[in-house]
Amino acid sequence: MPTDSEVDQVIHRALAAATRAPSVHNSQPWRFARRGRVIEVWLDRDRVLAVVDPHGHEARLSCGAALYTLRLALAVDGFAARVRVRPDGERDDLLAEVELDVRHRPTEQERTLAAAVPRRHTNRRPFLDRAVPERLRVPLARAAAAEGARLVLVDRPELFTPVADLIRRADRVQSGDPAYRAELRSWLAGPGRADGVPASALGRSPTPGGLVALRDFGAPEADFERVPLLAVLTTLGDTPADQVVAGQAMQRVLLTATASGLAVSPLSQPVEVPTTRRALGALVGGMVHTVLRIGYGHVGSPTRRRAVEEVAG
Ligand SMILES: Cc1cc2nc3c(=O)[nH]c(=O)nc-3n(C[C@H](O)[C@H](O)[C@H](O)COP(=O)(O)O)c2cc1C
Repeated sequence: MPTDSEVDQVIHRALAAATRAPSVHNSQPWRFARRGRVIEVWLDRDRVLAVVDPHGHEARLSCGAALYTLRLALAVDGFAARVRVRPDGERDDLLAEVELDVRHRPTEQERTLAAAVPRRHTNRRPFLDRAVPERLRVPLARAAAAEGARLVLVDRPELFTPVADLIRRADRVQSGDPAYRAELRSWLAGPGRADGVPASALGRSPTPGGLVALRDFGAPEADFERVPLLAVLTTLGDTPADQVVAGQAMQRVLLTATASGLAVSPLSQPVEVPTTRRALGALVGGMVHTVLRIGYGHVGSPTRRRAVEEVAG
């Protein structure tokens, strides 16, 4: 049996890994509480984005990504975890409980994915004009399935055109909304800030007329890859628990991509506008949680996180 102080160290390392998870606008909308060997994952309402995410959907995806990273860190540190995603996250902001269980021998895959945690970054730069081979696409879809979600690869032109149209349409709706633009500006991080999106991570904006629109952080324009690989993450339901499940799947897909040398940037605009979210769901089938742009890109740079002490109590 590990001593209490060993358990404390394991939990601290797992929380540090969890905070490396991606979150919408790097808002880090999570809090963690400890009860003995149980770690509770809470939604931090104060960090839910009022304009872009009024119902906390993307905040729960972000917390789900942190939850997956927490599980993975415990696994490579030699602990199985009993995870309970709470079904009633709408009324109660306690999203999940993770209980340290018996000793566990980490698998090769867990080690590979855990090693990708510090190397995973959102890459908003143009990708190379190099197709992602089938042998790397299949594991991405499997990663989502292993967590109870579905990753629909948009690899047929007859699907690509309407999906890209919906992304551009949602982006136009949002760009015309002063409240959206003001909220986005408020998450541009200056030096010294441990949340938000720093200038070093803004990448580039596609030149007008490009096939897909990236969120307009005001970055300088550049030509993007000619044929981006898009993928849509869905689940059957859309309860708060489904959103936490989708967040875990999202992070597993992102880490699988990173481990394969692929770069990714989420394109959430069509998910944030209710009409385009419905249209996208009708196109691919299921409840849509995010759209990912996947390809080969130069190595990104890390963005900052709040310290474990600030998010765990
Ligand atoms: C649910 C969710 C939605 C996101 N949507 C977008 C998006 O639409 N555009 C974008 O550029 N980044 C998006 N991101 C990426 C975040 O901005 C990014 O994770 C955060 O700034 C931290 O940076 P990192 O991923 O490099 O660690 C999203 C992330 C999450 C978890």
